[in-house]
Amino acid sequence: MSVIQAIVPVAGLGTRMLPLSQAVPKELLPLGSKPTLHWVAEELGRAGVRHVSLVTSEAKRNIGRYFETNSEIVSRIKNKPELAAKLWCNSDWNSMQFQTVIQAEQLGLGHAVLCGRDGLRPGPFVLALGDCVMGLGGESSTTARIVDVFTSNNADAVIAFQKVPVDLVSRYGIATLGAELDLGEAGRVAFHLQGIVEKPHRDCAPSQFAVSARYVFSDSIFPILEQARKDSSGEVQLTSAIQHLIEQGGKVIGVTLLEGEERFDVGDYDSWAAGFIRFAMHENPALSKLSRETGQPGANQA
Ligand code: G1P
Repeated sequence: MSVIQAIVPVAGLGTRMLPLSQAVPKELLPLGSKPTLHWVAEELGRAGVRHVSLVTSEAKRNIGRYFETNSEIVSRIKNKPELAAKLWCNSDWNSMQFQTVIQAEQLGLGHAVLCGRDGLRPGPFVLALGDCVMGLGGESSTTARIVDVFTSNNADAVIAFQKVPVDLVSRYGIATLGAELDLGEAGRVAFHLQGIVEKPHRDCAPSQFAVSARYVFSDSIFPILEQARKDSSGEVQLTSAIQHLIEQGGKVIGVTLLEGEERFDVGDYDSWAAGFIRFAMHENPALSKLSRETGQPGANQA
């Protein structure tokens, strides 16, 4: 069975990106030539996803309009195929459907996932955080791979992990690793997940394997989320629901990013700015030369 639907949470206020995020939702800030969410949606399209439930806030209600066809723009550039080719509506994935669901209160990632269910049909789904892009130039096979592992192992959940330095474990959900699984793929490790803890202190982190913005779940996660209690900060943590799923005997598998593959996070200014430059240079290596020689962008700009 393939996984054809996804929840993409995009409700966050983006406080670490102020004042930019007051002008533009952080998920629509560019990485190179495309908005972050465009890269995320392409990655989902490549993994076989056809329906997306975008979980957003009242203030960011219009975020999904990015994927609608803007007939004024389309008619204005009708004689400019090189520009038209850049639009989402002319991409390979233009038949994907986006539904907006409003999360009225910011009560954590677990709560956002529960809200996202309103935009789904019964069955498994991908969860892709809308402020993270996998792989330079969005060229990651990680989502497609976790979908493969989910379907071929009849799993309840498959989660992408990346190894992080020990001083960063307190920013992430961290895995307790069980037995390894052989995926037969060089540069990628898979394991049964024995436990998971959200943002541990470095002294009590069970490993350095950090949850990395991409998940696949069967819909058995929803009843667990419905019963989940808020933590001390008033949030429903997805990580606690995953821990419950494991305790109930659920089959949960971790799959690492490919060796050398990076996650680009637009949640804070430094990581967005570095990511923007990396994507821009990846798309056009000549950019570094232009800025050194003339201090000006290319001569052909409109
Ligand atoms: C969320 C998850 C965390 C995960 C991280 C990156 O945290 O709760 O487990 O490691 O995303 O994927 P946040 O960055 O929203 O605080």
